[in-house]
Amino acid sequence: MHLRLRGEKVEKEVLKQAAEKFGTPIYVYSLPKILSQIELVKSTLEGVNYSLAFAMKANFNQDLLKLFHSLGLMIDCVSIGEYLRARKVGFSPSKIIVNGNCKKREELKLYVDEGIFSINLDSYEELIRLEALANKPVNVCIRVNPDVDAKTDPHIATGLKEHQFGVDYDTAARMIERISKNGNIKLIGLHCHIGSQIVEVEPYEEALNSLKDFVRQMNLNIQVLNIGGGWGIDYGDGKSLNLKDYKKRIVPLLKDFNVKIVLELGRFIVGPAGYLVARVEYVKKTNSKIFVIVDTGMTHLIRPALYGAKHRIIPLYDTLDREETVADVVGPACESSDVIRKTITLPLPREGDLIAIGETGAYGYAMASDYNLIPKPLEIIWDGKMLFRSS
Ligand code: LLP
Repeated sequence: MHLRLRGEKVEKEVLKQAAEKFGTPIYVYSLPKILSQIELVKSTLEGVNYSLAFAMKANFNQDLLKLFHSLGLMIDCVSIGEYLRARKVGFSPSKIIVNGNCKKREELKLYVDEGIFSINLDSYEELIRLEALANKPVNVCIRVNPDVDAKTDPHIATGLKEHQFGVDYDTAARMIERISKNGNIKLIGLHCHIGSQIVEVEPYEEALNSLKDFVRQMNLNIQVLNIGGGWGIDYGDGKSLNLKDYKKRIVPLLKDFNVKIVLELGRFIVGPAGYLVARVEYVKKTNSKIFVIVDTGMTHLIRPALYGAKHRIIPLYDTLDREETVADVVGPACESSDVIRKTITLPLPREGDLIAIGETGAYGYAMASDYNLIPKPLEIIWDGKMLFRSS
């Protein structure tokens, strides 16, 4: 496997080959790109005592999970299904972190039995539930909600008090007190995830400063600070988390805690490495509009319909003799919200042409549905040399 970043030209060829070989629609994941994203995390966090966990919610493809396992990453799970998949691909419980606001009794029991790295407690009520079943030592972190604006899309912000995740500092203090009286529940640290697709460093700065104040006030002796995920990527609008700023302003704050830092990154690791390749089935012209109808849409990639997210549309056809045209690129579902990109200017494709939808490695296939019983796409891996169909 090479770490070399591939130019768009090479990538386009690979995507075309994949479509020829496996048909459409398909998700194609580039391993070299994933590895280069991990290298970026490493160079940004140089000098920090940290562990990187992959947030499985972004992509649960088993070949990718096996890769992360082989690279020694930890894994962040948010449901029993994700937990069982992590175990299946080889993660030992000591590498697994469990998040989520709705852990059932039997799930908590399994995590206690297997002895995972940490259960991140989401509420006081969850602590009470855990107490009743913790018949042996179990590590926990408390998920704190620092009431910080992540300055991201409101749909994917989680760190304000109006959000259902984590606890405020008063509740955290009550939980700490209660845990100290329990022989089996061991508080190893704090957890905080303020949102996703964060492109400014200030929210991280604010959250970390507030966590630091809390640790000081409580005179808290912790070994772990889990700062969640959220690193924003460029979806084609030029906005992404500035890693130089992160290194300059956030890394010193992290070092200051003098504990093991855990990051749960999803989008940053896999997002830029994924493409959804589709074929144009019809170019439908009405009196008012042109619709480019492709064989993929909201059932494979719901982000545009759900959040109004804009993904790059990359023509994989010869664009030289095509007229630049304004069109809506739409999918096959019986929903007017099945629009991949509205009012986009592109060299007008023809029936049979291929397009790729960029930056779809995170929260793409993972959020696909069976709606309309439109078959789900295959997932294809590009390992830098070969293309193969993933399980
Ligand atoms: N840790 C926790 C506790 C989380 O809730 C999340 C994401 C992550 C880590 C990973 O965040 P990332 O590094 O990927 O930003 N479906 C939405 C994103 C939802 C994110 C949910 N939590 C989207 O398509 O934009």
